[in-house]
Amino acid sequence: MPVETPHPLLSVENLSIDYGRGRSRTRVVTDVSFDIAEGETLGLVGESGSGKSTIGKAILGLVPVAEGAVRFDGEDISRVSPRRRRELTRAIQVIYQDPYGSLNPARQVGTTLAEPLTLRRGELSRREISQRVGDALELVGLPSTAARKYPGDFSGGQRQRIAIARAVIVRPRLIVCDEAVSALDLSIQAQVLNLLQDLSAELGMSYLFISHDLAVVELLSSRIAVLYRGSIVERGDARQLLEQPQAPYTRLLQAAAPVPDPDEQRRRREEFFAAFRSRQSA
Ligand SMILES: Nc1ncnc2c1ncn2[C@@H]1O[C@H](COP(=O)(O)OP(=O)(O)O)[C@@H](O)[C@H]1O
Ligand SMILES: [Mg+2]
Repeated sequence: MPVETPHPLLSVENLSIDYGRGRSRTRVVTDVSFDIAEGETLGLVGESGSGKSTIGKAILGLVPVAEGAVRFDGEDISRVSPRRRRELTRAIQVIYQDPYGSLNPARQVGTTLAEPLTLRRGELSRREISQRVGDALELVGLPSTAARKYPGDFSGGQRQRIAIARAVIVRPRLIVCDEAVSALDLSIQAQVLNLLQDLSAELGMSYLFISHDLAVVELLSSRIAVLYRGSIVERGDARQLLEQPQAPYTRLLQAAAPVPDPDEQRRRREEFFAAFRSRQSA
């Protein structure tokens, strides 16, 4: 019997996206295609302004699609009703760079986490909800007592853990991670990446892992797509792409140093990789 190709969880097909209308209309994403298998992490890398967040937003239904399709589990979700879109938020979640911007500072963490669960009133009792909130916090390495605190009581890394807990509490099948670790110190980045990797393995989730930083993308992704000015210029197996980048732009990204001093840059990278890998082999 022929081996069946498993159908991808997410399939972005010839996606184009415009901003503005009339004469100020500009195409910011052009003919982008990729897919993500169940449980897989696909890295989407490119410099600031290349269109990464716009693609993420199209998947989340936050920007209109000009051409092409976004297929989730076979269904084209690029032009669905608001009602269907709300249902899909259970299956497709997002984690942004700045959890402080996305977490309500005036709300207890437990209230924020419980929100998507209380929308299903009737299905879950208050006790079950508080149990789930506690479980979600423990899943991301925080004590369940964190539920009674406020975002301001936590460090940046802990706040990002809270944002991750909020995403996973509904048991999504896909999470769009848009620069999810970019605002964190390198040592904290490694910890949060470890956590994301564990969660994907434990819960079988897929990630679209968006970052301007190729080194970060490489750590989690099995495959990588490189975006330049709204188009994919290179794609492939993560290791192969890193070892033998074909597109000149990919080589440029590789050489790009977020820290101006190359020695300092090297030292920080080594520290970062060591922190990540020490856990990998533990
Ligand atoms: N709401 C918007 N209206 C008009 N142009 C936008 C809007 N958001 C982003 N852009 C432009 O679209 C392009 C892609 O932006 P974005 O997807 O945010 O890139 P990235 O996430 O890779 O930094 C950029 O040129 C940006 O200036
Ligand atoms: Mg962005």
